[in-house]
Amino acid sequence: MRKQIDEIAKKLQDAKKVAVLTGAGVSAESGVPTFRGQGGLWRNKDPMKLASIEGFLQNPKEVWEFYNWRRELISKVNFNPAHKAIAELEQKKDDFLLITQNVDGLHKLAGSKKVIEIHGSIWKVRCTECNNEFFDKRPNLGILPKCEKCGGLLRPGVVFFGESLDPVLLDKTIEFLKSCDFMMVVGTSSVVQPAASFSMVAKEAGATVVEINLEKTPYTSYMDYSIQGKAGEILPLIVERI
Ligand code: OAD
Ligand code: ZN
Repeated sequence: MRKQIDEIAKKLQDAKKVAVLTGAGVSAESGVPTFRGQGGLWRNKDPMKLASIEGFLQNPKEVWEFYNWRRELISKVNFNPAHKAIAELEQKKDDFLLITQNVDGLHKLAGSKKVIEIHGSIWKVRCTECNNEFFDKRPNLGILPKCEKCGGLLRPGVVFFGESLDPVLLDKTIEFLKSCDFMMVVGTSSVVQPAASFSMVAKEAGATVVEINLEKTPYTSYMDYSIQGKAGEILPLIVERI
């Protein structure tokens, strides 16, 4: 593994345009549960009830209970060495973009600035009637929070299953990946599209693609390098070398 890390660090050192894609595994060491894999939320909770637009429209109360629980949990945790290493990498590279599927805001807390939250933010809420959208950092927003402007039901500012990603953010992401020369994919099971195939856009552009995950994913065999290990241990080892 040492040799692999040295090689990856060398490629990263030489790279001019660097992308990083992260998923729930990056926040696991902060104490935020992942969705799949060991201890994953979707093992005993139904994503179609709690994380789809149909589920929200059918039972907004249950969905808000789930979100308030996650908001409370996330408000109590901190960023970890994986988030920190990614923020440091941004400092070392002029042309950099972090694309995260995480809605927890921990990358920003760790100092990342060039970050696209492609699945939205748990700290954002949006009115289902008038589309009024704003940040609200209070951990618990109550059972069915209402819009101050129009009284409509508020919803979490995240992308539910069955909804499209923000086209502006998606365009920005794809455009960057099409011309990057190094991409790291960290802590994502790579089963939710379109994020799962972002690494293939970079690979087609000729970039070196690297995966860091506790286990193999459907994309592991397409990677130039794949390291099985904890993001909070591996990422600092790579970033400190450049
Ligand atoms: P998942 O929960 O699907 O996958 C987490 C991945 O992180 C797994 O492959 C684990 O092996 C890995 N992992 C766990 N701990 C790790 C660690 N310490 N270091 C490195 N890897 C670790 O999370 P995502 O891929 O982010 O969607 O899930 C994608 C989307 O599905 C989420 O954004 C969410 C979910 O439903 C929405 O909310 C729209
Ligand atoms: Zn409203």
